[in-house]
Amino acid sequence: MAADTSKIAIEDLTRAQAKTELGRLAKKLARLDLAYHAKDAPLVDDAEYDALKRRNAAIEARFAELKRGNSPSDKVGPPAAAGFAKIRHDVPMLSLDNAFAPEDVREFGQRLRRFLDMDAHAAIAFSAEPKIDGLSISLLYENGDFVRAATRGDGEEGEDVSANVRTIGEIPARLAGKVPVRIEVRGEIYMTKADFLAMNARQAAAEEKTFANPRNAAAGSLRQLDANVTKSRPLRFFAYTLGAYDGPALDSQTDLLDRLRHWGFAVNERARACADEEELLAYYAEIGRDRASLPYDIDGVVYKVDRFDLQRRLGFVSRSPRWAIAHKFPAERAETILTKIDIQVGRTGALTPVALLEPVNVGGVLVARATLHNEDEIKRKDIHEGDRVTVQRAGDVIPQIVEAVRTPGSRAYVFPEKCPVCGSAAVRPPGEAIRRCTGGLACDAQIVERLRHMVSRGAFDIEGLGEKNIEEFFALGWLKQPADLFRLASHAAVLEKREGWGEKSVQRLLAAIDARRTLPLERFIFGLGIRQVGEATARLLASHYGTLAHWTEAMDKAAAELAAFAGEKRKPELVGEAWKELVAIDQIGDAVASDIAAFFAAPHNRSALDDLANQTKAAPFEKPAATNEAVAGKTIVFTGTLTTMSRDEAKAGALALGAKVAGSVSKKTDLVVAGPGAGSKLADAEKHGVAVIDEAAWRKLARLD
Ligand code: IVH
Repeated sequence: MAADTSKIAIEDLTRAQAKTELGRLAKKLARLDLAYHAKDAPLVDDAEYDALKRRNAAIEARFAELKRGNSPSDKVGPPAAAGFAKIRHDVPMLSLDNAFAPEDVREFGQRLRRFLDMDAHAAIAFSAEPKIDGLSISLLYENGDFVRAATRGDGEEGEDVSANVRTIGEIPARLAGKVPVRIEVRGEIYMTKADFLAMNARQAAAEEKTFANPRNAAAGSLRQLDANVTKSRPLRFFAYTLGAYDGPALDSQTDLLDRLRHWGFAVNERARACADEEELLAYYAEIGRDRASLPYDIDGVVYKVDRFDLQRRLGFVSRSPRWAIAHKFPAERAETILTKIDIQVGRTGALTPVALLEPVNVGGVLVARATLHNEDEIKRKDIHEGDRVTVQRAGDVIPQIVEAVRTPGSRAYVFPEKCPVCGSAAVRPPGEAIRRCTGGLACDAQIVERLRHMVSRGAFDIEGLGEKNIEEFFALGWLKQPADLFRLASHAAVLEKREGWGEKSVQRLLAAIDARRTLPLERFIFGLGIRQVGEATARLLASHYGTLAHWTEAMDKAAAELAAFAGEKRKPELVGEAWKELVAIDQIGDAVASDIAAFFAAPHNRSALDDLANQTKAAPFEKPAATNEAVAGKTIVFTGTLTTMSRDEAKAGALALGAKVAGSVSKKTDLVVAGPGAGSKLADAEKHGVAVIDEAAWRKLARLD
């Protein structure tokens, strides 16, 4: 392999080195583009990406003859993805040239004057606007009615996302006032920082995909095959330019922004007319100062020659307009001392290391903490407590540590193996990045999440007891462990007097709780929230062990056997009888069994479970009465959105027919029932050759119709 030339100054590169490096850069940029655009999961930050692009362009500038046919410099965006119909843009959607330093902006102004044959001091009016970090979209309106929406795609051809765009409230279905015959309004779909954080929290709670930053969240939310998913996501839109246009004459960008506002679009309120380059630079500084406090992410500002007649004369050069430029912000970084590494225990028991910093100003925000992600990240970045570190705000949301410089007196960090909140063992399963507290039921950090899970539909199913109530009761000290829920009656008098409560509502809640004192064993087991024990696994356990007493006795034994086992290879028969029986249950393997054992090995959990068992009555497992040969004994996976029933109902129905319901597709799966929006599970089904049917076919098979 050729030596790495990426550190050699451009002017020192030989022709051969330049050629190899251009090849390497093309490959690398293509890989980064794919991750960013198609997977909405960037591999590097924007500054690093821009630096690679700039180096590529600089090498091409010096060795013009080496420029590749498919050079990264000529690419605007990703090609349209499969799954959406393609739309060819009437007017191509281009990208912008970048400026990084004040000189680049002044040079931009002089280029304009030279091209327009103007005096070096002639005035040019500009429109300056924040550069929204979202994804660009082109909206076609005919006689005022929304017709279709297309993503940028490769600039020539994009994806038809009309159905999804129709669900976005800030995009009018009909234009207001005097409307043009035909107009393509272009702008940016984005998500606010606050909406992004709230959505990620919701996604995480539902164990669904989370996104790295608001831009990726917006892109991922728009590019959904099921428009209902898009509808549930908080997307917004700013209009800022035109594609095709057939309507009353427009003079300038300022004029256009005004009209767009009148037609009913959101237009960025920070857009401003600037009389010359120095005003542009003052605008850049001002927006830069305010960047952190803006409700949405921006990655720079955009300067446009204001007058449309001048824009027309200036035209385009390769893939970008001569009349506009993006002035990018540098990645926001600063240096400080990492004083200590703290461990946070999340609602699901994940131990996350957090760097406590000597407070430092990063792009206008005082940063005192940064995420370290996990144990390995600390090793990989070789971070000690007391080191000098570089902090960066990524995607403008969560500060990160970029690198550490070893500092005299710094201390190596040992990741704790006990939960700092409850003292239970914190374990990290092989192959996983996250260490988790095993004290689930008794860990203060997790109790709210545990209770929320416990009262959810598939478990204790207590109606009218929401997360807010649980948090309220926890804060009052009434809920220290799950069984306390069934002792809430002792607080009724106090609760009735609290704001938002009254005698009736308290009685209703207590009645709802009482109604669930008796419940099927499988729901009781599921409600415990043991890792990897979902509804299907809980049912397998209930069906195999029959009663709560049998199950807990067997699990205690299995946990004790595992704790005592010191052998190398964990052959089930060597660990012990109870363990062997547990892992022999179809679909329960070593990993799930280990999580169950870890739960039972924690004394806190064990006593919380006993307490809960005393407060409630878990009814012995009942074998399903009705069976259906087509379904009984089969392993079924439901995926995507079902329209005639909820996912829970579908699962319960399948279980009642004697089927097993699994959460992921493997070679043991017999059938996948897929609704719209089904994702990777379809590909898994194909990989394993598993039959896939739709909801209607499922209803027939299950004899629901
Ligand atoms: S004008 C001919 N104005 O930045 C291109 N673009 O790097 C006209 N962007 O593709 C684009 N905010 O996705 C323009 N106020 C703004 C913008 C903006 C964000 C995006 C847009 C564009 C990309 C170019």
